[in-house]
Amino acid sequence: MPDEGGCPFSDSGTPPPFPFRRDRQFDLPEEYALARQTCPVAAVTLWNGQRAWLLTRYADYQKVLLDERFSGAFAREDFPTVTEARRAIDKLERAFVGMDNPRHDRFRRMFTREFTTKRMLALKPQIERLTGDLLDAMAEKGPPCDLVADLAVELPALVMCELFGSPYEDRTYILKCAAGRHGLSQSADEAAQSANDLVQYCRDLIAAKERAPADDMLGRVIRDHVAPGDLNREDLANICSMILRAGHDTTTNMISLGVVLLLEHPDQLAAFKADPSLTEPAVEELLRYLSPVQFAPRRVALEDVEIGGMTIRKGDGVFALSPSVNRDPDEFPDPDRFDITRRTNHHMSFGFGIHRCLGQGLARVELQVVFRKLFERFPDLRTAEPLNRLAFKYDSQIYGLYELPVVW
Ligand code: HEM
Repeated sequence: MPDEGGCPFSDSGTPPPFPFRRDRQFDLPEEYALARQTCPVAAVTLWNGQRAWLLTRYADYQKVLLDERFSGAFAREDFPTVTEARRAIDKLERAFVGMDNPRHDRFRRMFTREFTTKRMLALKPQIERLTGDLLDAMAEKGPPCDLVADLAVELPALVMCELFGSPYEDRTYILKCAAGRHGLSQSADEAAQSANDLVQYCRDLIAAKERAPADDMLGRVIRDHVAPGDLNREDLANICSMILRAGHDTTTNMISLGVVLLLEHPDQLAAFKADPSLTEPAVEELLRYLSPVQFAPRRVALEDVEIGGMTIRKGDGVFALSPSVNRDPDEFPDPDRFDITRRTNHHMSFGFGIHRCLGQGLARVELQVVFRKLFERFPDLRTAEPLNRLAFKYDSQIYGLYELPVVW
């Protein structure tokens, strides 16, 4: 008999408020492990009173993200969010990240050629150059440096400029528009304003590219899809804005978190430094262990669906919790151990199903280059403050660090 929402977290059986708190830097909220063991599809209550379900196990996560009875349409009234501000942004989402099929695939296909492994590897020399320049600037400035401001924020922003063929100087404005979007305490008006500003920036960029065509991602999409009439400029502006947002904060926070996690595990860091062939598995393990996107992917049930013995009712929200499924012992032996030599590592940090991350190849190249080069350049790098004094983003939908003072 399917259950209607018994709850492992509270004696009263009333679904508790979500999200939960992390108590320590690299530990997940303890409710995730509890749910995985006792009630892997667990009911929670959102800020607006809506009921939602957490998918805490790998198998349920994959099942739901392939199931078309769940919608990923951000603009729906019943689409689940963890804050009111996020609701305001979701309502404005016009790009394919917030669409169901067949519309999603129609738009996404126009961009897949731009994100192939081959194209991303072709960007590697530029990424190496940009990383080298930022590390040179850090060396020149001398310790202490803020690794967030001087490297982790700058590199993905410069890479996005490279990808879009936009001037490097524009990154400050792009960052301003993207900044704070994921904060849990941001107001709905602020969130909507920055989302609108970024779309306007993209409209202007498209107009500039049309005046001066170029052989970069935006130039090619304009030539192949806008010119023949199968993509209009407004849809393109919305997609560009979404890609700019998606490609920045995630990678930035992976860089800062990854540096701290490696420094906190000297044996793993020593192995990484000694063996360049560990670069790729180390980045996969960092992605698995850190899972910076905290409350995604999200879906809403279009009809009553039974999952893991629970009935998810039409209109209920679903949070497919990547951080939790990445610690599922049924998939990852000894899941709470950070081990850069892990052999099989099919983590879900980039999501799954039709919305799996389009930019994962680019993110991987950036992370592989930055961790390798950083520790080559500064082999004695260390944090200037103890772990418990570092400013972790406990209040953000993308987990990370606000600042990271380092010395060498
Ligand atoms: C470490 C860095 C990154 C992480 C952890 C990450 C994570 C994710 C996740 C979890 C999703 C799925 C969202 C959902 O199902 O609702 C996603 C989607 C997406 N990501 Fe990433 N991402 C990263 C970097 C990037 C980069 C560098 C780009 C582009 C330059 C990018 C572009 C996108 C796009 C366009 C989508 C939407 C795909 C679709 O709906 O079809 N991401 N990402």
